[in-house]
Order: sequence, then structure tokens, then C-alpha cells
Amino acid sequence: MTKKDVRILAFESSCDETSTAVIKNGREIESLIVATQIKSHQRFGGVVPEVASRHHIEVITQITKEALEQANVTWNDIDAIAVTYGPGLVGALLIGVSAAKAASMATGIPLIGVDHIMGHIMAAQLKDEIKYPALALQVSGGHTEIVLMHDPIHFEIIGDTRDDAAGEAYDKIGRVLGVNYPAGKTIDEWAHKGKDTFHFPRAMMEDDDYDFSFSGLKSAFINTCHHADQIHEKLNKYDLAASFQASVVDVLSHKTIRAIKEYQPKTFILGGGVAANHGLRERLDQEIEKLPASIKPKVILPDLKLCGDNAAMIGAAAYNLYNAGKFSDEHLNADPSLELPYADNMLN
Ligand code: KG4
Ligand code: ZN
Repeated sequence: MTKKDVRILAFESSCDETSTAVIKNGREIESLIVATQIKSHQRFGGVVPEVASRHHIEVITQITKEALEQANVTWNDIDAIAVTYGPGLVGALLIGVSAAKAASMATGIPLIGVDHIMGHIMAAQLKDEIKYPALALQVSGGHTEIVLMHDPIHFEIIGDTRDDAAGEAYDKIGRVLGVNYPAGKTIDEWAHKGKDTFHFPRAMMEDDDYDFSFSGLKSAFINTCHHADQIHEKLNKYDLAASFQASVVDVLSHKTIRAIKEYQPKTFILGGGVAANHGLRERLDQEIEKLPASIKPKVILPDLKLCGDNAAMIGAAAYNLYNAGKFSDEHLNADPSLELPYADNMLN
């Protein structure tokens, strides 16, 4: 007998994108809608939580309908409803969680709460098959972590940032250069036009743990710019961007390669908004290529459009939870500081 297809309707609303998707068997995107609110937040230089919640409410019903229509399915075809319940902005998360719970209660379709970070990592599953144990470098606006994945649902954080996340550092130094939020993409483009002439610090690079720190780099960058301002010296923005990016990429790739050597995963995954960074993708590819064949993992770099926040990755992660029987109930609540690994909040 052929196995029945499992179709999941997924919601994501943890920050500044409202997104819905229909995912078949955890691997195939049947529909994906992403309603971005970035323009509304740009004039404030960052995400304003109340504005984010309001935008989520405005579009969530409409984009739920669109996701079903685009996938050419009805509620009867949906096997589970998945939703990001943390980490993120509490008001923003609540909109997705309430919509998913309401849909689940009205239809009787089971509910699955998904960790946003697990979702980012599982964007890789939409590209290729993940073999376990796997290791992920998860870099976004709120997180910078090295995650050891024992199987599709049991994750362990082996390294974390002590202060700023990598994406946050990009956004903060971008502001000093007058780049609109979120600055990562533009700084990445500028970096390719400049050279590492400033040699900013590479914090904690030689420490024998897997943790990171980016606030010293951010301060060194800002001090360099302020000092130049005071003496009316004009610095080359491309060299500044290239120098900043060289420092970030050096530290991230150095620690990742060391973790790969120690844990010898079968698959390496890059995840999160900063996974769209061309410098980082190229460097990790090159460094992994240099490893001896016996410990060289398969590399999955998610498609650029799936690096940022989206519901497809949540549907992919939810499929693994579905297979493991990890469902949520009507008590599922938003958890703004949810942390991997997560077994709590699950019924079984
Ligand atoms: O994963 P994401 O969409 O949201 C969070 O969960 O945080 O990540 C957004 C972050 C922002 O800080 C943005 O500046 C950064 O990802 N980002 C990049 C690039 N594209 C987006 N950072 C560096 N290089 C890029 N190409
Ligand atoms: Zn995210």
C-alpha cells in the first residue's frame, strides 16, 4: 500500500513577516505566501512590535485563504495545522498562534506548535534530504547558534552568542552607514566591492568553545566611524563593509569547521536570515571542501528566498513533529523566549 501524503498548513508571524504555506510530506512547497511589513518599520530603524502585530492581524485571514487556493486544496486535504509559537515578539506570535488554534478548533485538524529556530534549520529539508546526525549554523537577526541535530526533532545547542546576534550586528552597523533596516543584504553587496583594510577584531575565535560575541566588533566599527567623523575624514563604505563582513565570516566559519571536525555530522546546514550572506555561503563551502573525505559532510545551503522568515520552513519542521506524534493542544501559547531543545509544551 502506498503511504498517504501528509499535507500541513503552516503559519509564521514571529516578527515582521506574516506567512502561510501548504507543505506536502515535509519536502514539497505547494504554496507559500509571505506578506512583508519591512517598509512600515524602516522609518523607525527597526521592528516596532505594536505595528508588527497590527499588520499580522490585517493580513492573516486573507493569506490563509490564498495559501489553500494557491495549493489548490481545501481544509479537508489538510492533515495538520502548524504554527510558530516562539521565540519572537509576543504580540506578533500571538496572532499566528490564535489563528492556528481557531482554525484547528473549527475544523478538528490537529495542531502542531513549532520552534522558529527549528523552522529556520528545516528550510534545508525543502532543498535536500538531511542525514543525521547533522550540524547547523543558525544565524539570524535574533540568534547565532551552532546546533547539533541528533535526529529530526532532537536538537542541542553547542554554541551561542554571548551578546549580539550576527544579523543584529549587521543591522546596527548598517544604521551607522545610513543603510535602511534590515541592513544585512546591502552590507553583503558592499562587502563584495571592498577590501578588509580595517582589520576589526575577531572575538573569541581561538577559544575552545563554540560561543560567539559580536558586540566588540560592533563597537570597534562604530568607534572607527565616529573618530573619522570627528576629524572630517571620509572612510570608504565598501572597505568598511568588507572589513566588518570579513570579521563575521572568519569567526563563524572558524568555529563551524571546528565543530564539524569534532562532531563529524553527516549533513551540514546553514540556516536563518544571515544564511543568505554570499560571503558566508562561499567561505563555508570552500572550507568544508578542504576537509578530508572521511569527515566531509553533505552541505545544504537553503534557497535564498527561504533564508528569511517564512511559513514553508515551519511546515517542513512540523512534518517531523507530526511523524513523531508531537502534537499541541488548545493550551498552546506564544513563548517569546522559547529555546531549543524543546520537549515541553508537547502533549507526548
Ligand atoms: O531570520 P530572519 O529573517 O529574522 C530573524 O528570525 O531574526 O533574519 C533577519 C536578519 C536581519 O538581521 C538581516 O539584516 C539579516 O538577517 N540578513 C543578512 C543578509 N540578508 C538578511 N545578513 C547578512 N547578509 C545578508 N545577505
Ligand atoms: Zn527568523
